Amino acid sequence: MKYLVKDIPQDHAYLLPIGDIHFGDTAFKDEGMRKLKGYLDWVKSRPNAFVFLMGDVFNVSGRQTKTTPFETDVGEYEKAVEFFKPYADKILGAIDGNHEYRMYDEFGISPLQLFCRELKIPYCKYSAVIRLKVGKRTEKGAGNRYCQNYFIYAHHTTGSGSTVGGKLNRVVKLESIVEGCDVYLGAHNHQLAIAPQDIYYVSMQGGIMKRRKWYVDCGSYLEWEGSYAEKGMLPPAKLGSPRIRFNGKKDKKDVHVSL
Ligand SMILES: [Fe+2]
Ligand SMILES: [Fe+2]
Repeated sequence: MKYLVKDIPQDHAYLLPIGDIHFGDTAFKDEGMRKLKGYLDWVKSRPNAFVFLMGDVFNVSGRQTKTTPFETDVGEYEKAVEFFKPYADKILGAIDGNHEYRMYDEFGISPLQLFCRELKIPYCKYSAVIRLKVGKRTEKGAGNRYCQNYFIYAHHTTGSGSTVGGKLNRVVKLESIVEGCDVYLGAHNHQLAIAPQDIYYVSMQGGIMKRRKWYVDCGSYLEWEGSYAEKGMLPPAKLGSPRIRFNGKKDKKDVHVSL
């Protein structure tokens, strides 16, 4: 598990967790590419917006894998590197998905490792905790302190479910690994879904406090027609990624997620 810290001086910040692109899969085509480019251009045009890659960036199909190589375009590594290069400074880090793990399992190296090295992005392997420090304090004597701190735990996740709730439950389970985060990010099941959950906790200063957690399932970029979703009798998914806004003003910790 990697620990990443990002200081964002503006009074709010955005994080777009982007997962399950499946570069190379023939079902990643015009609509997916257009959407992905739209998000990345949006991020690039804002100094307070960043991306985290949630795994299955690559498809990695082969004769021994569940995905047939006959549904793959050649050159997925080069295509992904060239595509992401202009946005490299906006990517906070990347985790492997099970598709990258196929190559690791066979040859001991993940294409995402090479991708991250080439683009100079932190490679986080299976999971990462991201700390966002938002809203730099400007009063005299504040030093390098920030108004708000947010903690996010990201994992590609495993397993699935046949319902939206079943899929989102995989994200909820992340809380049994790292407690106390503001946002839990999962991917893998290609569903876009969000749920806020409030919880009481006992304060070390005495009394009972309440805070909010967000469970976020990060979607995908694969079109349904001719894909494994069609083959496997899965419903078509809305393509894209969630956009998470973090307030950086004093006295107002607030997360807002839009799809
Ligand atoms: Fe995937
Ligand atoms: Fe996956």
